[in-house]
Amino acid sequence: MQYSVTFPSRTTDYHPSASLAHLQQLANVANTIIITDNNVWTQYQTELGHYEAIVVEAGEQSKSIETVQDICKQLAELQAHKTTILVGVGGGMITDLTGFVATIYMRGIAFGFVPTTILAMVDAAIGGKNGVNVGLHKNMLGAIQQPNFIAYDYTMLASLPTQEWSSGFAEIIKYACIGDAALFQQLQATQLQTIMENTNHLQAIIAQCVAHKNKIVLADEHENHIRKTLNFGHTAGHAFETLYTLPHGQAVALGMIVAFIASEQHLQLPKKNRQQLVAILQQFQLPTTIHFEIEAVMSTLKMDKKRKGDSIDFILLSQIGEAVIYPLTFPAIAQALQVFAHEHKA
Ligand SMILES: NC(=O)c1ccc[n+]([C@@H]2O[C@H](COP(=O)([O-])OP(=O)(O)OC[C@H]3O[C@@H](n4cnc5c(N)ncnc54)[C@H](O)[C@@H]3O)[C@@H](O)[C@H]2O)c1
Repeated sequence: MQYSVTFPSRTTDYHPSASLAHLQQLANVANTIIITDNNVWTQYQTELGHYEAIVVEAGEQSKSIETVQDICKQLAELQAHKTTILVGVGGGMITDLTGFVATIYMRGIAFGFVPTTILAMVDAAIGGKNGVNVGLHKNMLGAIQQPNFIAYDYTMLASLPTQEWSSGFAEIIKYACIGDAALFQQLQATQLQTIMENTNHLQAIIAQCVAHKNKIVLADEHENHIRKTLNFGHTAGHAFETLYTLPHGQAVALGMIVAFIASEQHLQLPKKNRQQLVAILQQFQLPTTIHFEIEAVMSTLKMDKKRKGDSIDFILLSQIGEAVIYPLTFPAIAQALQVFAHEHKA
């Protein structure tokens, strides 16, 4: 059933049971340009072939200002104008990139998303954050602009590699940790393979996560307070992601363990919760150990956008389902990383 969410900046129409084959009903062929990556294009060229399309190379390295410039040149060649609609069909790399291009091209044109990874369905496509990386700095350039629509075609998940399913579940586990203890318990009692085979269960979980994120974004679109909680696991996670070129979800999984450790150190979160988290991560085929250099992670963290003087607003847990914004000093972060390195040896 279609519904709309009205953010301070724009209303987004949600189409939770759309079909790529019927995309024309949302974005007419004459006025739309698709932005996608070569993996998604190879799989869905038949369904998308009647649209003008800009295909970028798959992978995080394409989330760059060079790609933005290249896409803008192609848009100009295709005579895209103020009433053109850009539709990003892909994972979070494509939705972040498409949203950014649409926000700056001719000072802003309409855009929509067809998220094709679990991660983009539950997280990246929602909430209007877009942007690109600059060297090692994740999402250094970007803006907040909500898409005009988001359309879900779950059948596209059939071609998604298992590793990408796992990666998406890292964000689902994140939602459970910060705001949904019941979902945390549900995840404890299941595994990736079981959910991959149960479309109804999967769709229910996705809908729950989308509702959770929208509720937070509605309360704080520009991340002045509660939206920061969505960064749970992402501060150390982004450092692992860029330094060791890990997929986003894998890096977030590791970052969540660091955040659990810091929560034990500063908010007395019971250590048994960390063991439960590690078990869930393993059930969803996510990593729980990594070889890393504390100094390298610390120097990346010192360039984090969330840095405030000598500390970073970390997201910690007072209990499962209860997130707390907590300024952690750099020595305190290093301490949590040390425990992680020591107690979770690769
Ligand atoms: N804007 C936000 O709020 C937000 C939130 C979380 C993550 N992100 C960003 O999202 C990005 C990660 O997203 P991702 O994990 O979706 O990565 P991704 O977009 O790189 O996709 C992962 C891989 O899956 C392939 N793929 C995508 N859909 C497919 C399908 N249906 N069938 C077969 N292959 C498919 C892609 O080609 C790619 O190789 C990161 O850049 C991260 O920073 C943004």
